[in-house]
This record gives sequence, C-alpha cells and structure tokens, in this order.
Amino acid sequence: MKCPYCSYEESKVIDSRSADDGERIRRRRECLRCGKRFTTHEVIETVPIIVVKRDKSREVFDRNKLTGGILRACEKRPVSIEQIENMIYPFLPEEKGLQKTVLTAMNYSVKAGGKRLRPMLMLETYKMFGGEDLSVIEPFMAAIEMIHTYSLIHDDLPALDNDDLRRGLPTAHVKFGEAMAILAGDALLNYAFETASKAFCGDAQDITTAKAMQILAKKPGIYGMIGGQTVDVEEENKEISFDTLMYIHNNKTAALIECAMMIGAVLAGASEDEAATIEKIANKVGIAFQIEDDILDIVSTSETLGKPAGSDEKNGKNTYVLFRGLEQSGEDAKQYTEEALQLFDALEYKNDFLRELLLYLVGRKN
Ligand code: IPE
Ligand code: IPE
Ligand code: MG
Ligand code: MG
Ligand code: MG
Repeated sequence: MKCPYCSYEESKVIDSRSADDGERIRRRRECLRCGKRFTTHEVIETVPIIVVKRDKSREVFDRNKLTGGILRACEKRPVSIEQIENMIYPFLPEEKGLQKTVLTAMNYSVKAGGKRLRPMLMLETYKMFGGEDLSVIEPFMAAIEMIHTYSLIHDDLPALDNDDLRRGLPTAHVKFGEAMAILAGDALLNYAFETASKAFCGDAQDITTAKAMQILAKKPGIYGMIGGQTVDVEEENKEISFDTLMYIHNNKTAALIECAMMIGAVLAGASEDEAATIEKIANKVGIAFQIEDDILDIVSTSETLGKPAGSDEKNGKNTYVLFRGLEQSGEDAKQYTEEALQLFDALEYKNDFLRELLLYLVGRKN
C-alpha cells in the first residue's frame, strides 16, 4: 500500500481490526518512512496455501481456520500490554552520553512493540503464587523482555535469519547498521542482569532473588535459548530427525517461557515441586507457541505478523509444519496446550487470566 504523501511502499496497520479472507475492510495505516497516517480500503485476498511436507506429500490449507488470538486475551483485565509496558519502560536506559547510539538502538527495539508475553506470564505466575511485591518482580519482568528483545535483534541479523522487519518496524540492523545491532543485543543481555539485580534488597528475600537470577542466567544460555538457536542455524537446509527438531523448539523458544514462569513462581515463594510443575507447564506452552509461530510463518502475512512471513522457507529452516503438515501441527499445538492446562488445573493455586492467556496463545494471529 503506497503512502499517499511520500509514495513509500511500506506502511504498518495501526488499527487492531483483523479480517477474514475475501472481506473488504477499511484500514488505518502509518507510513514507515514519513510517519503520516492514511486510510485505505482493502480486500483481503483468499490465496490457497500449499505445503510440501518432508515426506513429499502436499497439503492445501484453508486460511479461515486461523481463529482466536492472544490480543483478545491480553485485552482482558487485570493486566494489559500497556500496563506491562508501564512497568518495564522505567528500567530502560536514558539515551545520553557518548554511547547514545547503542542506547537508542536498545530502546528502539524494546519499544517497537510486541506482545509482552514473557513479562506478562511472569507477573501472572507471581500473582498466582501470592506474590505482591512489585519492587521484586518488576526488575525481572524488564530483564526478561530485554533478553527476549536481544534474542530477536540477533535472530534477525544477516548472519542468522536475515530479516528486515520486526514488531512492525525495520529491524535494528536495518535502522542502525549491523555493528550497532550486535552491540545493542549484547547490551540488552548485559543490562538485563544489571536491571534484575535491583531486586536484591538486603534481607531474607535475597535468597529467592538469587535463585531467580540463576534461572535468568541459565534458561536463555547455552543449555537453553542459545543452544536451540545454534542447532536451528546449523541445520538449515538439512534433513534432521524429529527429535532434533524438538531439541530446537524446546530450547530456542520454550526455554524463555519456562524462564519467565519459573521466575514468577520462585520469587513468590513456590516450593521446588511447584516450580518443577510450572516448568513443565511452561515447556508445553512454549512448544505450542513455537508450533504456532511456524504455522503463522506460512499462513499469515508480514503485515499481521509485524515480521516477514515466509522467512522459514527462505532460510530452509526445519519447522514443525514440514514434519507434521499444517492441519496436524494445529492439532498438536492444541494438544500441548491441553496438557499444559491439565497440569495447571491440578495446581492448588488459581489465576483465571493466566489460564485464558495460555489457552489463547494457541490460536493467536501474530
Ligand atoms: C518471537 O516471539 C520469537 C519466538 C520465539 C517465536 P514473540 O512472538 O513473543 O515476539 P514479540 O515479543 O511479540 O515481538
Ligand atoms: C527464534 O525463532 C526464536 C528466538 C530465540 C528469537 P524464529 O526465528 O522462528 O523467530 P521469529 O519467527 O523470527 O520471530
Ligand atoms: Mg530464527
Ligand atoms: Mg527468525
Ligand atoms: Mg518464526
């Protein structure tokens, strides 16, 4: 959609209304170059999606099966995306000093948007186990979103997935250059720990804070997210076993979801058994989440996703859909979520919002 003011081709949709294929809708857009807003009338086209699976069989997919969505769940109270942002933004660095460029790049990538899923899951798990002290949980919420954002900046780099759109905006390396994007990623990882350490307060609570720090260090690391990313990149354009694919998904994605929910539980004083159950729940949710991400990469659009659709095919990635097909992948994502909910419901503690959030993740649109 060309901008009527400067003719630039790229714009982002700023109203939240989603649409079905074939539907004619009115949209508000914002130009990614001049920033001006304009209205368009667009017909959402129905294009059948054909997937060629690993076993060479073909599958034709009906786009209308894409239902539900995390945004619906997130709009529900008690906590919205905006409330989460209000809690984490105060921890971002000020953009001043000789290193201002890297600070600006860090803030640009964090503030670009996103579902804020990890801090949201962390906060809600904390509340579920009776946690009430915002001065303890907030630094960790900010820290996990910084670590997640660093993982996205590096994931998008030319050496990894080479993508130029993220959270509806040009990626950090497109906007600030590759060197600054690498440094902004490094800086966010480091600053995450500096930020989380603000939760130490010099009393008995510091023991649980130290345990939470350990989780924050381990899950995104070499036995977690980085491990998964390593295999993901190394095995591009190669045939791998289903077990190896599950290693990738367990680590590159589920590990950070586990990290978020476990920290929430531990900081609120959950027992080791309870934290282990939360880890299992989060693992299943994380797998379902990455399956859904693999599905969306095929069936959705860059506009809706805020990141380039078709990135996996471009990079010869091993995705869940290549093994199971679209239909079965959707079913498997639901199955993982149902298993997570069974464990969740067996817990002594309840949090209806968190339950809803887990449920909607599986049917989200972006
Ligand atoms: C993207 O995570 C990376 C994956 C693990 C699939 P999100 O889908 O949570 O990205 P944001 O935070 O909403 O941008
Ligand atoms: C990456 O998975 C997960 C990370 C650790 C960032 P993807 O490469 O599928 O994530 P997207 O689709 O680019 O968000
Ligand atoms: Mg990737
Ligand atoms: Mg990627
Ligand atoms: Mg993806």
